[in-house]
Formats: sequence, structure tokens, C-alpha cells
Amino acid sequence: MDFQRMLDEIGHEMARRDDRGAVATYIPELADIDPDQFGMAVATVDGRVMVTGDADVPFSIQSVSKVFTLALALGRHGDGLWHRVGREPSGHAFNSILQLETEHGIPRNPFINAGALVVTDAILEGRAPKETLAELLQFVRAAADDDAIHIDADVARSEQETGHRNMALAQFMAAHGNLRNPVEMTCGTYFHQCAIAMSCRQLAMAGRFLVGGRDMPGLVARRRMRRILALMMTCGHYDASGDFAFRVGLPGKSGVGGAILVIAPGRASIAVWSPGLNANGNSHLGTQATEVFATRTNWSVFD
Ligand code: DON
Repeated sequence: MDFQRMLDEIGHEMARRDDRGAVATYIPELADIDPDQFGMAVATVDGRVMVTGDADVPFSIQSVSKVFTLALALGRHGDGLWHRVGREPSGHAFNSILQLETEHGIPRNPFINAGALVVTDAILEGRAPKETLAELLQFVRAAADDDAIHIDADVARSEQETGHRNMALAQFMAAHGNLRNPVEMTCGTYFHQCAIAMSCRQLAMAGRFLVGGRDMPGLVARRRMRRILALMMTCGHYDASGDFAFRVGLPGKSGVGGAILVIAPGRASIAVWSPGLNANGNSHLGTQATEVFATRTNWSVFD
């Protein structure tokens, strides 16, 4: 398959689309990003990496970080983690507090904010935030084979200053005994993990640990990999997860910075970035581009 040509075609097609969605504004540092950017990268199981557009421009990975922290938390706590967080799609927005009230402080899944806060709290246990973030960066750098990946301190500060909702979620879970560390510590670590900056090329490389295959980084056991992918498929796009599964047919995780990481098991890791979001808070052009890519490659986990 001529991936380079396919990516270039998709890049050109996306450049012609008028509706690019709207950039997230609730984190001030993200509000100024130029919405006209689009990048895409594919890292295949045979070791090739193909890119198009703004694929080397770093962006804030935001909620895509939840995939990496989940892998770390499962590595440390195993199935015990599932006593503190569920595995069901929420059918609600990423930052919703609604279900936490009726479900006694146990978040529906590790990818909504409440669930991700529990996951971060779990990897923080017995460690300082600095150590935890260093461990996370080490994991991401190893996955991507790139030691330049870092945390954007301005984005972290910006989210910290406006993070009332996340702190409310954390306080609520603390009230239910579902946080082991002080709220400020768990939230602070979470804000920093969301502020990891990566390009499409780096993110596609980092996603290879979920592809499987002899030459891919073996950072998690196969059985665990399958489970992370199942969660990406069912919960990776919040209340648009069903629509993403329907349209793309591959597990994916989106972030409010406009990134989507998509995994074609046994084939490739795909990263797309365009900062304009749709009504569900997922990249508008990113979703469209991955749909076109999945259609043209004819890749689907349902095939
Ligand atoms: O917690 C937040 O609001 C952000 N740091 C991350 C949210 C996010 O990326 C949701 N994704 N669509």
C-alpha cells in the first residue's frame, strides 16, 4: 500500500474542507492555537514511518496521555485497578460529574476525566509527583524511541489555573475514599501529564506499543494490550465513541488539543492532529481524516 500517497491525498482533501471545528478555549494556553493546522503520521508494523502536513509540529496531547497512564497503572496494580474505576462507556462528556454522584465516586472508565484522575492517583501512590511524571515521560519516550519528548510547563500552568472542574471531580472522589493522595497532588500530576507535547510523528511512534508484532516495543503484555484497545474502542471518544467505532472501526483515543491516536492492531499506529474540535470535543478534521484512512486501507477490527 502506498501510504505516503494516501496521506498526502488526505492532507490535500482536509485542506479543502471549510468547517474545521473550534479550538478548545477552556484552557487559555490552547485557545491561541492556529486552527488551520493539520498533520498525520503512520508508523507501520514493518518499521516504516510516513507523515504529511504539520506532522512535526508539537501539540498538547491532553487526554491521549490517559492511554499511557492506564498502561502504567495496570502494570503497577494489575486488575486491582478495576476496584476503583469501571470499564463501561459513560455516554457523557469527558468532564461530566453526573454519574459520580449516583455511582458512589467510582468513575465509569479510565478515559473520562474522573477515571483518568483515579489512574493518575494510582501511579502516584508511594511516589512524588516529580518521580511519577519522570516515570511517565520515560515510558512515553521509550515507546516513541525519542528522548526529546517533554512536558509544556505553560500549558500545565494554564490548566492548573482553570482546573476547577477537575478539582471538583477529584474532591468528590476523595469524599468517597477513592483517592489515595491529596487532591492538589493528583490534579497537579494530571495537569502535567495532559501537557505532554508531541508531534504526530512522535505520537504515532509512541502508539506502536499497542500495535503488537515482533519489532514493536513490548512495553505491555499482549493480553493487557487487547484490553487497553477494547477500552479505546468503547470509551476513547467519550459520548462519540460509538460513532467513531461505526465510522472508523479502529480503537482510538482523542484529546482536546486536537490529537487522535488510532491503532490498527497488527498493522500500524496512526496519529492525526488538527486543533479544531467538533461538538463532542474530538478533533473535527482528525475524525474525518481517520475515517477516510480506514476506508481507503480497508482496515477494521471488525473485518
Ligand atoms: O482535563 C482536561 O480537561 C484536559 N486536560 C484533558 C481533556 C481532554 O483532552 C478531553 N478530550 N477530548
